[in-house]
Amino acid sequence: MTLILNKNEVASVLDMKACMNAMEEAFSELSNGTAVLPLRIGIAPPDGISLYMPAYLKQMGALACKVVTVYKNNPAKHNLPTTIGKVLLQDPLTGDVLCIMNGGYLTAVRTGAASGVATRYLSRKDANQVAGIFGSGVQARMQLWAITEARQISKAIVFDISDEAASNFIADMDKKLNIEIIKAKSPEEVLAADIICTATSSSAPLFDGNKIKEGTHINGIGSHTPNARELDTAIVKRSKFIGDSREACFKEAGDIIIPVAEGAITESHFYAELGEIITGKKPARTNEKEITIFKSNGLAIQDVAAAHLVYQRAMAAGIGINVEI
Ligand SMILES: NC(=O)c1ccc[n+]([C@@H]2O[C@H](COP(=O)([O-])OP(=O)(O)OC[C@H]3O[C@@H](n4cnc5c(N)ncnc54)[C@H](O)[C@@H]3O)[C@@H](O)[C@H]2O)c1
Repeated sequence: MTLILNKNEVASVLDMKACMNAMEEAFSELSNGTAVLPLRIGIAPPDGISLYMPAYLKQMGALACKVVTVYKNNPAKHNLPTTIGKVLLQDPLTGDVLCIMNGGYLTAVRTGAASGVATRYLSRKDANQVAGIFGSGVQARMQLWAITEARQISKAIVFDISDEAASNFIADMDKKLNIEIIKAKSPEEVLAADIICTATSSSAPLFDGNKIKEGTHINGIGSHTPNARELDTAIVKRSKFIGDSREACFKEAGDIIIPVAEGAITESHFYAELGEIITGKKPARTNEKEITIFKSNGLAIQDVAAAHLVYQRAMAAGIGINVEI
């Protein structure tokens, strides 16, 4: 039998803290060599792109493939979202498909969770820190949620080029997290924060990196093509640069590809993968003044670990529909 889980069912069993723990395991496996993570495969039919993201986590016993499509004309032409994702979770022992689940909410939570883990390891540990969020879409919401799980956050400042989007963000997140959230009038206002997340659709740098204060930690999750970046050369040069995967960063992240191409830094500026920090192979922050960056491109190991967690919990709770395929 194959279990089918819709978005609400996935959301009902997936909380940030548990997902952060699952991400820690996944990134550790990547660093320890027990993860299989082939490059994602892309096919481009006339109207969009279809991506196949498989991975296997040996220690966790989790095997899955996410199918995610980006069809820009979907909303206007078909009344469907631009991005649609589903995860196929398999039994590693038999290969059989155990579960097909909605992948939209899962992707957002696992992306937040990776930043939460990075924040746990890389940011300063003092209490009453201020979070700064660029962007106020789905991902930005999950970024703030994850940061509040990782550190004691007393206040958040959000900036979006859409005033309405920022207001909706504040209304939603105020209720969910019960912290003070302020709307910034300019990007500069966000730079007062101790922990900053960039989660926008922008392909150009969001702020002047010379203005970031010492000791700041930044999670950069938005841009994901070689020509696009949310972070400028100045902030990358000033920082200790950690990525989800070295390979993905040098293939997809303009945030580091562009400063290298400009000659401002060399590839050796890439300090470590997140898994190397978690497993203690490389030291994390070594003083209170360092600026740290975690660049996230999004890896299939994250989807697999989150899907495994969702399936275990859904089975325990008896939710979803079982079908014979
Ligand atoms: N790293 C990962 O694993 C991962 C996973 C999923 C999505 N993403 C990426 O995260 C980004 C955000 O995704 P989303 O679903 O929240 O998108 P969204 O469209 O819902 O929200 C993006 C927001 O960014 C705002 N924005 C655009 N330019 C801005 C600027 N210069 N300054 C401030 N705000 C600006 C927009 O107004 C919008 O509100 C996308 O680029 C997406 O591809 C990354």
